[in-house]
Amino acid sequence: MRDSIKQYQELVGSCLRSALPVENRYFKTIYEAMNYSLSAGGKRIRPVLMQLAYEAVGGSEDISAYLCAIEMIHTYSLIHDDLPAMDDDALRRGMPTNHVVFGEAAAILAGDALLTEAFRYMLEDALKYGGAQRVRAAYILSQASGVKGMIGGQILDIESENKTIDLTTLNAIQLHKTGALIAAATKMGAVLGGGTEEEIEALENYGLFIGKTFQIIDDILDETSTDEELGKPIKSDQKNHKNTYLSFYTVEQCYEIAGTLTDKALSSLDVLKGNTLLLKEIAAELIKRRS
Ligand code: IPE
Ligand code: IPE
Ligand code: MG
Ligand code: MG
Ligand code: MG
Repeated sequence: MRDSIKQYQELVGSCLRSALPVENRYFKTIYEAMNYSLSAGGKRIRPVLMQLAYEAVGGSEDISAYLCAIEMIHTYSLIHDDLPAMDDDALRRGMPTNHVVFGEAAAILAGDALLTEAFRYMLEDALKYGGAQRVRAAYILSQASGVKGMIGGQILDIESENKTIDLTTLNAIQLHKTGALIAAATKMGAVLGGGTEEEIEALENYGLFIGKTFQIIDDILDETSTDEELGKPIKSDQKNHKNTYLSFYTVEQCYEIAGTLTDKALSSLDVLKGNTLLLKEIAAELIKRRS
């Protein structure tokens, strides 16, 4: 067990550096485009959560393939989310977006390639070491990133632009586009670490609660932060006439809701006997985050 969240971010950073696709002269552009977004930084919250959940149920081996896979899928979702046909944003992780640097075609392909690479990477690990837990982890990620998860949320999000929707629809958008991948992170960690079904469920619930908090804060920061602090353009939601938590609540009410969700996330961890100190710290920090 490492001592701080920063040390877990460093662990993820080093796993990703060894996973970066090696450039090849025929496919130089696509490798460059993939590496550009993957190396650009970011909080690495999903793989950090996965590793912490893994350790909380007693896991002590190397799950770098799964840590890298979820960050590759998340990074691909950001590349596509920024495309002109989607949110049309020009700044990401403090740098010009992928399509601005490499062009739209290469950005679409870089996203596709990261998605595919994530599954290649996990399956390579599962073939090498075997075990139903590894296959189950990959399956969880496939569900969370697909139409029943992130993609489902993204299409609802796009279709709800310029429309009045109800709170149930907004919750469905946020749960799918953001909550699914965050909950998959903690659930995969619990599965890979050999957790009991009760532990797996508890960590998935924790992920769902902080996932919702995460998107509420993302919506607030889109209004209240700065491009510099956030590393992405503020007022993107307003520009695209999105429905967000701020379409329904004031900033103050949003923080109250996020506070209740954080409490629920913390109590989900009660059934776990392992060390959940940093999982608790992440939940508490998320609500205060500025980037
Ligand atoms: C941004 O995710 C997209 C959302 C789901 C809100 P992050 O805020 O985790 O982005 P990075 O990885 O730190 O850049
Ligand atoms: C997108 O939500 C979530 C993804 C699946 C990428 P947003 O569109 O609000 O994410 P940001 O604010 O651009 O990071
Ligand atoms: Mg979006
Ligand atoms: Mg966006
Ligand atoms: Mg946003």
